[in-house]
Amino acid sequence: MSQIVPFIPDNAPFSPEQRAWLNGFLAGLYSGADAAPAKAPAPSLKIAVLFATQSGTSERLAKKLAKELRQQGHVADLASLETYSPASLAEQTHALVLASTYGEGDPPDSAKSFAESIAMDTAPRLDQLSFAVFALGDTSYEHFCKFGADLDARFSALGASRLCDRVDSSVDVDAPFDQWKTAVFNSLSQTPASPAAAPALPLAADAPAAKPHVHTRDNPYLAEVIEKRPLTHEISSKLTVHVAISLAESEVHYEAGDACGVFAQNDPAVVDEILALTHFSPDATVDLPKLGATTLLDALTHHLQPSRLTRKTVQAYAALGDCDKLHHLLAPDAQKQLDTYIYDRSLIDLIEECPGLLTSPSQLIDILPKLTTRLYSISSSPKFHAGELHTTVAVVRYRSHNRDRGGVCSTMLSDRVPVGGRVPIYIQPNKKFRLPADHTAPMIMVGPGTGVAPFRSFLHERRALGATGRNWLFFGERSATTDFLYRDELEGMCSDGHLTRLDTAFSRDQEHKVYVQDRMIEFGAEFWRWLNDGASIYVCGDASRMAKDVDAALHRVVEQHGNKDAESAKEFVQELQEQNRYHRDVY
Ligand SMILES: Cc1cc2nc3c(=O)[nH]c(=O)nc-3n(C[C@H](O)[C@H](O)[C@H](O)COP(=O)(O)OP(=O)(O)OC[C@H]3O[C@@H](n4cnc5c(N)ncnc54)[C@H](O)[C@@H]3O)c2cc1C
Ligand SMILES: NC(=O)c1ccc[n+]([C@@H]2O[C@H](COP(=O)([O-])OP(=O)(O)OC[C@H]3O[C@@H](n4cnc5c(N)ncnc54)[C@H](OP(=O)(O)O)[C@@H]3O)[C@@H](O)[C@H]2O)c1
Ligand SMILES: Cc1cc2nc3c(=O)[nH]c(=O)nc-3n(C[C@H](O)[C@H](O)[C@H](O)COP(=O)(O)O)c2cc1C
Repeated sequence: MSQIVPFIPDNAPFSPEQRAWLNGFLAGLYSGADAAPAKAPAPSLKIAVLFATQSGTSERLAKKLAKELRQQGHVADLASLETYSPASLAEQTHALVLASTYGEGDPPDSAKSFAESIAMDTAPRLDQLSFAVFALGDTSYEHFCKFGADLDARFSALGASRLCDRVDSSVDVDAPFDQWKTAVFNSLSQTPASPAAAPALPLAADAPAAKPHVHTRDNPYLAEVIEKRPLTHEISSKLTVHVAISLAESEVHYEAGDACGVFAQNDPAVVDEILALTHFSPDATVDLPKLGATTLLDALTHHLQPSRLTRKTVQAYAALGDCDKLHHLLAPDAQKQLDTYIYDRSLIDLIEECPGLLTSPSQLIDILPKLTTRLYSISSSPKFHAGELHTTVAVVRYRSHNRDRGGVCSTMLSDRVPVGGRVPIYIQPNKKFRLPADHTAPMIMVGPGTGVAPFRSFLHERRALGATGRNWLFFGERSATTDFLYRDELEGMCSDGHLTRLDTAFSRDQEHKVYVQDRMIEFGAEFWRWLNDGASIYVCGDASRMAKDVDAALHRVVEQHGNKDAESAKEFVQELQEQNRYHRDVY
């Protein structure tokens, strides 16, 4: 007869770590309960916990998982795919992989080399491997969790067997991660112990102590806005604002290169319009998954995202009734039209397109995506701007389908939070985007638009550290007179020699567009000399076009000035990556 494994409920008075540990402990204790007495030790296995990350989430979860595995008595070896080879994988019997996806379904930069090697015909067989994949992604991207899915399929094709099914998670990772972990633990508990690992029982003393009061995404810090100023001129075609918040009375710490997560609120005007269109009462009670009962007004303001459509929202809305227009868009061969449709429309457009389909407030909870936090690269240095955190926010405003629209968070920061107001924030560490460890090493930064943000942080940090390495910044914007972000500061750093070179590309100041990558090519000989002197390259800003074009320009500089063919230039750039000298933080 099978036995039910006790489970610590979500509302028990434990931290998530304590709850996870206790659940793992109970799973271990009750595993194989049919065959062995209840107090049999959990099987001890040697398990590789591998992660492929860009912004640190996969690494954070992998660390948590490794810790819990050790507490269950397993030998967990934590490693980044950056430093891992298919040959090492072939030697393992158990591997748990956490991998995020970027670009157009690509691996994070750090896992590109592994991804290429495992895809080769020469990749080793993985017949002795049991594995499980947790894929991180975001459903708003076309290639949702593709890299995780690719790894899962490839490992299986190379002969490895799955411990459990892959779990794909969108931005809200915690619940799917717990679900995957439970499946993994259940599967491991049915695996015979491996001789390589010493058996161990989880000790009560291993249980994590209650954590001190730390601010995370689950427990954000309500930070006071202490300064706001436009960085673009009032006659500019765009608005970018400098927003500074105080951390003086907090335990919040960050490092140069990190990002700041912001919990946004929807524009009250948008919320009012939805209420007016649906005739729902703002006080109607609705049930939010995990959070429980609240008012519709609270749900629409803080928890749901009516201003961005996803494919699922259109599908779910169309399923509420008859609407020919939407059914056409949902045809299997209309993917591109659907993407175009959702790009610049919102729930309000759906309601106007096919009115009268929403009949109860709870339908909104079912069809709308969750309001997610927004990240902003931190533009201050914790050493130079002690007690403060600065962000550089491009305000998203556009007109489409006869309506003026605004981005949820950027307009909140620029229009709706006054100086003295407070916003819930947390730090998103970015361990892959750090200053060169060698303070004498040269550094090249390519940061058009808001991409300049982390480089302002880097430059102030390097000065505060007394770092003597040369600094070269490529900055680009629309026009020098209206959009030269942080002009005085950057020109000041040039004058006093801290910024060795500042090369700018103002795209709209002449007839033809000039971009940062054009400057890289123009000064290619000097760029190549800096590379030979050991310079690290950093790129930040737009992912959709800029980062790819800058990458192509880098290859071109290496080809031209290093006298290499395309293949050797590619190898050279890959080596830069492996040496931790080519970093990208793009969005
Ligand atoms: C690691 C990281 C770092 C970042 N750093 C910064 C930073 O330093 N500074 C910064 O400003 N941003 C940064 N961002 C982007 C930031 O997180 C937000 O995505 C951005 O501010 C937009 O959020 P929003 O809520 O204002 O807009 P949303 O409400 O999310 O609206 C954006 C959506 O509006 C639509 N849209 C936008 N423009 C148009 C247009 N012209 N026409 C039609 N539709 C359009 C698109 O569907 C788009 O997805 C970063 C992102 C990441 C992931
Ligand atoms: N909806 C809005 O109002 C709005 C406004 C600003 C930014 N955004 C979005 O917000 C993000 C960040 O914007 P941002 O303010 O940091 O600036 P940005 O839009 O990235 O622009 C900064 C500079 O980069 C140039 N640029 C455009 N394409 C490029 C390419 N392929 N290679 C190199 N440079 C290129 C721009 O020129 P040109 O623009 O002249 O081509 C501009 O001079 C971007 O993803 C952008 O799409 C939206
Ligand atoms: C610029 C950018 C591109 C992304 N591209 C994709 C994508 O193509 N598919 C996807 O599922 N998720 C995509 N994501 C979402 C990330 O995979 C997701 O945020 C993940 O949790 C990040 O994990 P990490 O911090 O371990 O890198 C993208 C995120 C960013 C910022």
